[in-house]
Amino acid sequence: MIITNIEDLRILAKQRVPRMFYDYADSGSWSESTYRANVSDFEGIKFRQRVAINMENRSLMTTMIGQNVAMPVAIAPCGMTGMQHADGEILAARAAEAFGVPFTLSTMSIASIEDVAANVSKPFWFQLYVMKDRAFVNDLIDRAKAAGCSALVLTLDLQILGQRHKDLKNGLSAPPKLTLPNILNMMTKPRWCTGMLGTKRRIFGNIVGHVKGVENMSSLSAWTAQQFDPALCWDDVQWIKERWGGKLILKGIMDPEDAQLAVKSGADALIVSNHGGRQLDGAASSIAALPEVIAAVGDSIEVHMDGGIRSGQDVLKALALGARGVYIGRPVLYGLGAMGEAGVAKCLELIQRELDITMALCGQTDVQKIGRHILR
Ligand code: GLV
Repeated sequence: MIITNIEDLRILAKQRVPRMFYDYADSGSWSESTYRANVSDFEGIKFRQRVAINMENRSLMTTMIGQNVAMPVAIAPCGMTGMQHADGEILAARAAEAFGVPFTLSTMSIASIEDVAANVSKPFWFQLYVMKDRAFVNDLIDRAKAAGCSALVLTLDLQILGQRHKDLKNGLSAPPKLTLPNILNMMTKPRWCTGMLGTKRRIFGNIVGHVKGVENMSSLSAWTAQQFDPALCWDDVQWIKERWGGKLILKGIMDPEDAQLAVKSGADALIVSNHGGRQLDGAASSIAALPEVIAAVGDSIEVHMDGGIRSGQDVLKALALGARGVYIGRPVLYGLGAMGEAGVAKCLELIQRELDITMALCGQTDVQKIGRHILR
């Protein structure tokens, strides 16, 4: 198969990854209306086609929270990345490092913070979920600091989990339970099985062994329901910010009022995000919410976005509407599930090339000068 776009990677990943993990990535909550809108709302945004403008010497280089990036696209934190492909977090982090874009490790990763740090050479970003057990949260922050992480991405939109029907029906867990349907399904995924048999990384590495009494934690939904702190509020952002003491990015901001509170918190950036349509089904798409957030905060905080990016064209549209950078989650998971590290590299290359050529066809040569003027 000649891979020419992200959809090709998705199709390949669907063939190669056990159903429960493919479904985990490729789903939203309840009716999935927000999940779908995240993608489809990009279609209505149209570029101005400009011609006879010198398009030589183009540059996609810029910064996100003051860090140099080869293009304004970071890898989003995704739970259970190491179940899409053996050692998934490490492979994705390495591909990001080679490419020159940030990789964000999820709290709910398979490879632990320390494990990823030992296997890459540049700092990555760490995404934090806040649990009721504050000692554990403090410990996670300290571990991310000790591992040299260069930003903390604090997720604010998942104190409780939005229901994803497929995960319940599939009995999602890491590692998968050896039930007959799971075994039969895994037998059709020999590449995945070979990889998994060759790695020790099959459990939630940041958690198992780090929390007293949690030796056998395999279900994301059970862990979330028992451990995530439903009382999380803006005051918590303050102590987390103080304890962390580095660059702080707040994830899950969709409303202008929340955006203003994010500015007040003193965070370095916010991410306009509805968690990939996995939390509040019926929320606006991220790309529809982005302009309202920008209007509310202006230049007082760096604004990033995620949700629905499937191409370089989508990246350019988000930049045109004011995002300083974007995050890709599913495209990376598809790349990983399809071809491991090479698949993530392919995903980044595809998006870079699409972004570069589309920018040129809009008559632009510098990604830092993209703005509304490129849209109709
Ligand atoms: C969070 O980890 C999710 O599954 O969306």
